[in-house]
Amino acid sequence: MEQILVTGALGQIGSELVPALRERYGAERVVAADLRMPPAGAPGEGGPFEHLDCTHLRDIQEVVGRYGVNTIYHLAGILSAVGEERPQVAWHVNMGGLYRVLEVAREHRCALFFPSSIGAFGPTTPRHHTPQESVQRPTTIYGVAKVAGELLCDYYTQRFGVDTRGLRLPGIISHVAPPGGGTTDYAVDLFYQALRHRHYTCFLGPDTCLDMMYMPDAVRAIIELMEADPARLRHRNAFNVTAMSFTPAQLADEVRKHLPDFAIDYQVDPVRQAIADSWPDSLDDTAARAEWGWAPAFDLPAMTRDMLSKLRATMPS
Ligand SMILES: NC(=O)c1ccc[n+]([C@@H]2O[C@H](COP(=O)([O-])OP(=O)(O)OC[C@H]3O[C@@H](n4cnc5c(N)ncnc54)[C@H](O)[C@@H]3O)[C@@H](O)[C@H]2O)c1
Repeated sequence: MEQILVTGALGQIGSELVPALRERYGAERVVAADLRMPPAGAPGEGGPFEHLDCTHLRDIQEVVGRYGVNTIYHLAGILSAVGEERPQVAWHVNMGGLYRVLEVAREHRCALFFPSSIGAFGPTTPRHHTPQESVQRPTTIYGVAKVAGELLCDYYTQRFGVDTRGLRLPGIISHVAPPGGGTTDYAVDLFYQALRHRHYTCFLGPDTCLDMMYMPDAVRAIIELMEADPARLRHRNAFNVTAMSFTPAQLADEVRKHLPDFAIDYQVDPVRQAIADSWPDSLDDTAARAEWGWAPAFDLPAMTRDMLSKLRATMPS
């Protein structure tokens, strides 16, 4: 039986992954953990919660031992834009945290999910239809830690037999918890501002094309990968996955089909623009499709329709 620990459980992805895992495996079998304490009514409520710093080895060992955890979803981390503000902290949390979680996974024979990112690629990577195996020379501390993390997970599998699996996730669009300071956050903010003010000022330029995925697809991808037959997994860490690629101008056009008076303008943030310009504009996810049957359900029109209807239901008009 699965006995699960989710680190970084209060973040954008954890806020929706934890309820999905609890639904699937039982609420008591999924321990949500974060450096922050959950606010009252947080989506992760309804099962065990632990206050846990993923850079503290003994605390992870203690929680994993106490609950008899056999699978860890390691979501705790610092995202790309915040990482450029505090590179030393980003390395400490992203690499130091992963290393300690891997050590605990080795000691306690746990399976591990590690989310890599399109940020694991860099300016010398082929931008269009980026292959599963390609040049990885990222120029952000976030990307450097993601590449090192992919390699470290591979090493723990080869050297110690730890069952590590990972996805190179694109920008994730969702409406439950706000994004945590990534370069693709604009694609979430735009929806809130469109509904509130019919206007959005975008921090990326109009033609910046990036891969994106709607949260229901991301949650399903994570669970499907972790449930996949290991005999079929040739890559493990980390699979390219994508669902759609678009620019801010294309997203604005799609939103305008539902809100005709929506307007967008641009005030480019040079730091986040430089990060976005160093990333691919579309990934080739053939390996994920072939090895564990990955197929996204939401494209740009379906995601836009669903985001607007979900937000309309929860936002005061
Ligand atoms: N959201 C995306 O678009 C996206 C895309 C690609 C990859 N990812 C990866 O997925 C993972 C989760 O992303 P997210 O968007 O949910 O991030 P997020 O910033 O929304 O959440 C991260 C969580 O980690 C927690 N945290 C930070 N430092 C910690 C520490 N030392 N110990 C324990 N918890 C700590 C934070 O409190 C936060 O709740 C990250 O590794 C991220 O790089 C996210």
